Amino acid sequence: MKTLVIGTGGREHALAWALARDPGVTEVHAAPGNPGIAEVATLHDVDPMDAEAVAGLAERLGVDLVVVGPEAPLVAGVATGVRARDIACFGPSTEAAQLEGSKAFAKEVMEAAGVPTAAARVCTTPEEAAAALDAFGAPYVVKDDGLAAGKGVVVTDDRDAALAHAAACERVVVEEFLDGPEVSLFAITDGRTVYPLQPAQDFKRIFDGDAGPNTGGMGAYTPIPWAPADLVDEVTRTVLQPTVDEMERRGTPFRGLLYAGLALTGRGVRVVEFNARFGDPETQPLMALLESPLSELLYAAATGTLADVAPPRFREGAAVAVVMASRGYPESSSSGDLIKGAETLDREPDVHVFHAGTARRDDGQLVTAGGRVLAVVAVGADVADARAKAYEGVHSITFPGAQARTDIALRVARGQA
Ligand code: AMP
Ligand code: GLY
Repeated sequence: MKTLVIGTGGREHALAWALARDPGVTEVHAAPGNPGIAEVATLHDVDPMDAEAVAGLAERLGVDLVVVGPEAPLVAGVATGVRARDIACFGPSTEAAQLEGSKAFAKEVMEAAGVPTAAARVCTTPEEAAAALDAFGAPYVVKDDGLAAGKGVVVTDDRDAALAHAAACERVVVEEFLDGPEVSLFAITDGRTVYPLQPAQDFKRIFDGDAGPNTGGMGAYTPIPWAPADLVDEVTRTVLQPTVDEMERRGTPFRGLLYAGLALTGRGVRVVEFNARFGDPETQPLMALLESPLSELLYAAATGTLADVAPPRFREGAAVAVVMASRGYPESSSSGDLIKGAETLDREPDVHVFHAGTARRDDGQLVTAGGRVLAVVAVGADVADARAKAYEGVHSITFPGAQARTDIALRVARGQA
């Protein structure tokens, strides 16, 4: 099978890498890609937001499957554009991607499907926002309705800050605060059949101890040894399947990756958010452990035949990802800093470097080119073992201004989670 991956991040590197090692895959192409993806795929300089350009590239290359990584192209209709040319595409349509593109839409679908989530109100005026804040009380949760690259959510005890965020957005969702650990559970779906992956946990804040502002994610591990044994079954039954069924009932089936961000509260599991694509960086450790051929699952999901293929299988053991970010992240980022030690680190099958914001200088040297620069992902017998190997890798990579948390998966490795 010939495949084309759309995107430039660490998630896309992990997906392209998993496709490249899949015996069923003969070619991996990527657009626009990055220097890490270039090691496993042929890159094409095509705008990932341009549906016609992506569909045209897929047609020219004669690929059998297009995999759209990030949310922005999905919401912009890239999967719809590819499917319009009768090319199989893993990723939801424009309409189905609204599960991530609009928080108000996601709430409406969850309500219709009876999916447990935080109580919420959609507000378009300062008066509505103020009334909703007072109805739910502190801590206040205010979410920009639209896509905001992980920066649209403010959680604060400061009522003025909550009001200011609401005023800065056109439309917000104000909701009840959810207490408890967060877990990411992904499902591959063809719009009907739902195959959950194993749970992962993401570390969203920039600093150790979960301090500082939210980021796209500074590290992740999978599986989650402390998760309740029935978590995957329960979430599939109460969240993933009902949501997929509701989308089909509306005539806008969701084909792709449904990402449920969950809070395990004292009152049970609640959905914090849906995303319409693989999570980043959770995908990196998940791909490192995936045993099933990825192309078979994604192609079956794209063509409505998921029930005909085996559910995903994962290796025993655990995988841990530690992200290295550039100076200034998440408020800004730094480019052009020379990265040393990344090239020699890949040691199959245990340690991988997945690139995100990297570039090659004219002289071939690897430099930073974005906020999250790369992730070191290691596989081990358990979380503690994988974590030790991942940090060994992080310590052997340097660039000016590098930021990495030192406590990714630390509590779970110590059995304290
Ligand atoms: P979201 O973009 O919806 O994932 O929100 C980003 C982060 O904000 C989440 O990962 C949570 O840590 C936090 N958050 C979102 N909604 C809530 C909520 N209702 N209660 C507590 N924290 C929340
Ligand atoms: N890791 C969080 C996300 O992908 O949205």
